[in-house]
Amino acid sequence: MRYLLGLDIGTSGTKTALFDEAGNTIKTATFGYDLFQPQVGWAEQNPDDWWEACVKGIKAVIEKSGVQASDIKGIGLSGQMHGLVLVDKAHKVIRNSIIWCDQRTEKECDYMTEVIGKERLIKITGNPALTGFTLSKLLWVRNNEPENYEKIYKILLPKDYIRLKLTNVFATEVSDASGMQMLDINTRNWSDELLKDLNIDKNILADVYESVVVSGKVTEEVAKLTNLAVDTPVVGGAGDQAAGAIGNGIVSEGIISTTIGTSGVVFAATDTPRFDKEGRVHTLCHAVPGKWHVMGVTQGAGLSLNWFKRTFCAKEVEESEKAGVDIYDLLTEKAAKSKPGSNGIVYLPYLMGERTPHIDPNVKGAFLGVSLINNHDDFVRSILEGVSFSLKNCLDLIEDMKVNIEEIRVSGGGAESSVWRQILADIFGYALTTVKASEGGALGVAILAGVGAGIYDSVEDACSKIVKGNLKVEPNADLKEVYTKVYEVYNSAYPRIKDI
Ligand code: XUL
Repeated sequence: MRYLLGLDIGTSGTKTALFDEAGNTIKTATFGYDLFQPQVGWAEQNPDDWWEACVKGIKAVIEKSGVQASDIKGIGLSGQMHGLVLVDKAHKVIRNSIIWCDQRTEKECDYMTEVIGKERLIKITGNPALTGFTLSKLLWVRNNEPENYEKIYKILLPKDYIRLKLTNVFATEVSDASGMQMLDINTRNWSDELLKDLNIDKNILADVYESVVVSGKVTEEVAKLTNLAVDTPVVGGAGDQAAGAIGNGIVSEGIISTTIGTSGVVFAATDTPRFDKEGRVHTLCHAVPGKWHVMGVTQGAGLSLNWFKRTFCAKEVEESEKAGVDIYDLLTEKAAKSKPGSNGIVYLPYLMGERTPHIDPNVKGAFLGVSLINNHDDFVRSILEGVSFSLKNCLDLIEDMKVNIEEIRVSGGGAESSVWRQILADIFGYALTTVKASEGGALGVAILAGVGAGIYDSVEDACSKIVKGNLKVEPNADLKEVYTKVYEVYNSAYPRIKDI
């Protein structure tokens, strides 16, 4: 039997998953790490923490599965997108990575818009200047830490730093590279004109490949450290969203997906690059060769519930530990005890600013409409609803772009809750299907690795064999009226609170 390994370098931890060639999960291991917030709106991580989690994860799945390392025919890398990793000539990390949800770069975005122009930026990179994307973070380092900028030999994305550690090769691939905002997404190559206008040396960028291409092989040193076989091929892989989409079978027009992870996403594959004039949804290269995708992103999805748990749920955490139940199961069960509309509370999930549809790094979250009748259950439910409304904003824009929607597949940690899934279906007014494999991103890049290793003919072919629709959640027609009303309130809130 041949096996494939997928690594997903997430924000809260790295998941390592081993699959057989039929797509069955053999073993998984997850190791976590810290997120540092030196100032409000800033977010950083240490790339060597990611690497440590990868080494532990690889060793653990090989040991626990009993699979021969030589039977692992390929490795796929996925991970949080947009993070800036700076490395010097000796391949050492220069400073902590400024990650995707960091919002410190508003000034740099204004500068990018001034030099390049909003329309031209959208035309070349698929997006207006975005605080979350890598380019503005690089410009921030140039403006604020010139001593670090001077030391740069190469800049990498999170998963591409792991590639460097595994293979000693500097490389990236089109899906994640489009989230750096230096790629011409039309030609799928670095944009010489943009780099020239912003005075950025192209040599600091890694070589860019299609996502199924083998970009390097495991070195002898890493083989000793991890128990992998020397020369195991490492393919390009994909940013977490494109990888998750492949794991959900979103590889051609018609089936779209929605994910509730730390961030929340609505994602659709397209045969040609398609743009929103205002750039409220991202247009990026897909990890399927010759395809693109559009996606709306809400910054604080699972992040909102995680924040609420940490800040307001000490009692519930204790209760869940005593009873041996998952805290999120306990919280979502509490949400089920409240009512649709959360007895009047409307939650705006803008804990880290917002991307779709507002593109506003400064807006803050809010609970609106709180009254004496409200209890803890209402607050929890309002979070599940607020995040779902924010995802509906993404869906509305994608519908406006005339993307064909025949099926919506739902995934991510948040969607493992049947309560949250049902709320999302009710608010979307669409049936949602879950897929069998819950390993999303890790499975997506294992599929890419399988294409690179010659096990599958194409990404589409692999998905049609491996990814199967599972449970269907129908929207409750009786709740249409109440949710339409609350959605109106939700939408009317942003213009009123944004300047407060
Ligand atoms: C996508 C995005 C997030 C991160 C973290 O644009 O910023 O999905 O990749 O998961």
